[in-house]
Amino acid sequence: MTEVIIVKNQEEAGQIYGRAVADLIKAKPDAVLGLATGSSPLAAYQALAKIVKDESIDVSQVRGFALDEYLGLPLEHPQSYHSTIHRTVVEPLGLDPEKVHVPGDILNGAPLEDGDKIALAGPAYDRAIEAAGGIDVQILGIGTDGHIGFNEPGSSLASGTRVKTLAEQTRIDNARFFDDDINQVPTHCITQGIGTVLKARHLVLLAFGSGKAEAIEETVEGGVSAFCPASALQLHPHATIIIDEEAASRLRHKDYYRYAFAHKPAWQGI
Ligand code: GLP
Repeated sequence: MTEVIIVKNQEEAGQIYGRAVADLIKAKPDAVLGLATGSSPLAAYQALAKIVKDESIDVSQVRGFALDEYLGLPLEHPQSYHSTIHRTVVEPLGLDPEKVHVPGDILNGAPLEDGDKIALAGPAYDRAIEAAGGIDVQILGIGTDGHIGFNEPGSSLASGTRVKTLAEQTRIDNARFFDDDINQVPTHCITQGIGTVLKARHLVLLAFGSGKAEAIEETVEGGVSAFCPASALQLHPHATIIIDEEAASRLRHKDYYRYAFAHKPAWQGI
């Protein structure tokens, strides 16, 4: 079963992620972290940064691969995921920027029309992840429509990294980062595919607030369906979903998830 952990708040969720990843880095100093943008993972990155500092953990060898990027934004644009990942993860954790990759890095704002360049970027990114030995822990947020990365409803559950068209709802949701102006939100993106995400050895999905309750219900207790891309986590042998009470509010088996986590042997970790 996908493990569901219901927490009080984002800080508690962040602590669980931070501890797991810190222990991973201690055991494997060149661990490969799958990184995500959005507000949901922020407390998790902060918790990890604090543990890294408090326990003087050497992160100089840690490698990272982000999930996705807008198409058409130059890397230095403040809302490009390249900039966002550097601001929210690379700097606070003190990672080596050379070792952290974002899918649009080799495109650097190339327009959608530049098909030759753009069509090659996805497969090249998947090859780079494979060459690094695969992702050890992939952190994920979830869109209100159930998307992970930028895999919108209908995305192939076997997809690799590729260009996608953003859903209108996603552009509306993300307009808050673009002066509340949907016209400034790019229409296309490059995203790790669902098949790419499923290859990571451990998936940790974080969701908070009532706005995510429906997507979480479909993800955890609905059928596996491309209509809810996050439901693909049900196919993964090691997926952990950490959510607050509001995001969990529509789950039918909440009591069981709580009971199972409370009785989990400590040695199992998450
Ligand atoms: C964007 C990102 C996703 C993220 C989602 C939810 O669409 N591409 O990776 O999960 O936003 O963001 P938030 O966590 O801010 O709700």
